[in-house]
Amino acid sequence: MASEIPVVLITGASRGIGLATALRCAAEGWQTVLCARTLDSLTEVATGCRALHAPEPHLIGLDLERSDGIPPLFQDIFKRYGRLDGLVNNAGILHEGLLGMIRPDDIDRVLSVNVKAPLMMTQYAARLMSRRKIGSIVSLASIMGVRGASGLSLYAASKAALVGTTLSASKELASKGIRVNAVSPGFISTDMTGNLSEAANQSRLASIGMGRPGTPEEVANLVWFLLSDKSTYITGQVIGIDGQMAV
Ligand code: NAI
Repeated sequence: MASEIPVVLITGASRGIGLATALRCAAEGWQTVLCARTLDSLTEVATGCRALHAPEPHLIGLDLERSDGIPPLFQDIFKRYGRLDGLVNNAGILHEGLLGMIRPDDIDRVLSVNVKAPLMMTQYAARLMSRRKIGSIVSLASIMGVRGASGLSLYAASKAALVGTTLSASKELASKGIRVNAVSPGFISTDMTGNLSEAANQSRLASIGMGRPGTPEEVANLVWFLLSDKSTYITGQVIGIDGQMAV
C-alpha cells in the first residue's frame, strides 16, 4: 500500500544546498530519502530531521560516479513507499581547469555525476511518478551553465547539459502530470565555494549586485516552492537565484 505522506528523494543531501533542502522537506512533514556518497556523511542531516520530529529519513550511501546503484534505489523506494512525489537532483561536483589542462578522466567523472546520474534518476523517477500522475523533479544547474566562465568549461558544459535534459523532460512529462524544473544558483556559501582563494572569493563577491553570497537555505526555499503544491502550473523553467550576479 502506498505511503500516505509525500516522498522526496534528494541526492547530495549530506551538506550545503542538499542538506538545507532535506531539512526544509522534513520540516514540511515529507518522508525524505537522502543519498550521499557515504552513509556516514548523512549523520548530521539525519539528526536534523529527527530534531524536527519529521518522518525518519531513509539514508542511502550511493556513489553517483557509478550508475549501477540507481535502479535498485528506485525498486527500494517503490517497495517501501509505493510512491515518489519529488526528486531533487542536487549532487554535483565542481571542476576548475583552463583549456589544455582538462584530462579525459575529469570529463568522465564530472559528466557521470553532473549529467548521467541526474538523467538516469529522472528516467526512473518519472516511471514511479507516472503511476499517480503527479510529481516534481528539480535539478541544480548553475549560472555558469548559462553564461560560462573562464576555467569552468567542463563544469559549465555539464550544467548546460542538465538544463537541456530539464527542458526536454518537461516536454515529455507534462502530459503525465510531472513537472520538471531547474534552479540556477550564482554564488552560494557551501563547501563547494569555500575552497576558493581569497582573491577569487573577493572577485566573485564584487560581481554580485546584492554584495553577498546566497545561503543554502535561500536556495532550499526555491527548491521547496518547486516541489510543493504552490507551483502546480510551473514546468520547463530554469529559475535563477543569484542576487544579481554578473558573469
Ligand atoms: P557541496 O559540494 O557542498 O555538496 C555536494 C553534495 O553532492 C554533497 O552532498 C556530496 O556528497 C554530493 N556528491 C558529490 N559527488 C558525489 C558522488 N560521486 N556521489 C554521490 N554524491 C556526491 O555542493 P553545493 O554547493 O551544496 O552544491 C549543490 C549543487 O548546487 C551542485 O549540483 C552544484 O553544482 C550546484 N551549484 C552550487 C553553487 C554554489 O555556489 N555552491 C552554484 C551553482 C550551482
